[in-house]
Amino acid sequence: MAGRRLGPYRIGRLIGKGGKASVYRAIDTRSQTQVALKLLDLPARYAGADWQGARDRFLHEAKAAGHLRHPNIVQILDSGVQDGMAYIAMEYLGGQDLGAWCRPGHLLPLTLTLSIAARIGQALAFAHRQQVVHRDVKPANILYDRDSDTLKVTDFGIAHLGGSRSPASDAARTPGYMSPEQCAGTAVDLRSDLYSLGVTLYQMLTGVLPLVGESLAELERRIATEDAPDIRALNPNLPQPLAELVARLLDKQPDRRYQDGDDVAQDLYRLAAELGQQAAQDPFSDSGFGFAPTQIQAPDGAAPTPVRGGSAGAGVRSGGKPGKSP
Ligand SMILES: Nc1ncnc2c1ncn2[C@@H]1O[C@H](COP(=O)(O)OP(=O)(O)O)[C@@H](O)[C@H]1O
Ligand SMILES: [Mg+2]
Repeated sequence: MAGRRLGPYRIGRLIGKGGKASVYRAIDTRSQTQVALKLLDLPARYAGADWQGARDRFLHEAKAAGHLRHPNIVQILDSGVQDGMAYIAMEYLGGQDLGAWCRPGHLLPLTLTLSIAARIGQALAFAHRQQVVHRDVKPANILYDRDSDTLKVTDFGIAHLGGSRSPASDAARTPGYMSPEQCAGTAVDLRSDLYSLGVTLYQMLTGVLPLVGESLAELERRIATEDAPDIRALNPNLPQPLAELVARLLDKQPDRRYQDGDDVAQDLYRLAAELGQQAAQDPFSDSGFGFAPTQIQAPDGAAPTPVRGGSAGAGVRSGGKPGKSP
């Protein structure tokens, strides 16, 4: 694909791969600016009319996210079909997706983790106010550039626009991050995104998913019925109020969860500020929190795959059917 031209775009190297699309670095030859070009898998991978459905679902992302302008949401620049290929052009972001920072031994410092989760909360709150529910919040869909401390939520591919039915099938979600109501197949609203934010934060703090299963069915049963272990059981150095915050995001009952991403952000920022003060007063603290992520051992298979953007089977230990399609 590299070197090929698609409309005004000159395609460069592959930078990421998701369930149904590949993302390339590209140059917009009109402005000589760098963009990220997301290309739907080629029609050859589909049987006849299936590609049209896939294409419509793919371009739905541009519709759902295209009008969202927020510092923590990836900006969509253009979308369309050209030479039989469906594409979405977006601002190019350096760095990596958050999956890189969710593995034992690779966790980010605590206050940075809180600030990242807060920014995701703010981005979601903004989308929610525009009636957009993301529905696939997970580390692979959040891009973070540590050098510039830039964070952006991406991949509104199965987002649900208020008042209209999403064309995405239910199978398009990622098992480990699904809310109980997503597992049950009942109606989801913005609070489902906040549950998935809870899973993401849990993983950023501990390096493991809150709940895993031997099969998709078992994982879904656990998500529906079992509370996740307290984050402090995995790392006793994590502060109690943070454990409560995470548990409130992961509440099985949407009514008892946080109801607004901005509230989550506010509490996270407050906590980060308090921890910063405590650290300044404690002459024996190094990072401030005695936080030693490398001590945490992931249960077998619970760690996300290190492949950029790949987490379709996350949460299912072995041979489980990934929840992404096609
Ligand atoms: N704007 C971007 N800039 C840089 N990398 C990106 C950008 N968008 C996506 N990526 C990379 O490509 C991967 C897949 O993109 P994503 O939009 O999540 O596709 P999919 O819908 O197939 O999951 C991401 O996890 C990320 O690593
Ligand atoms: Mg993705």
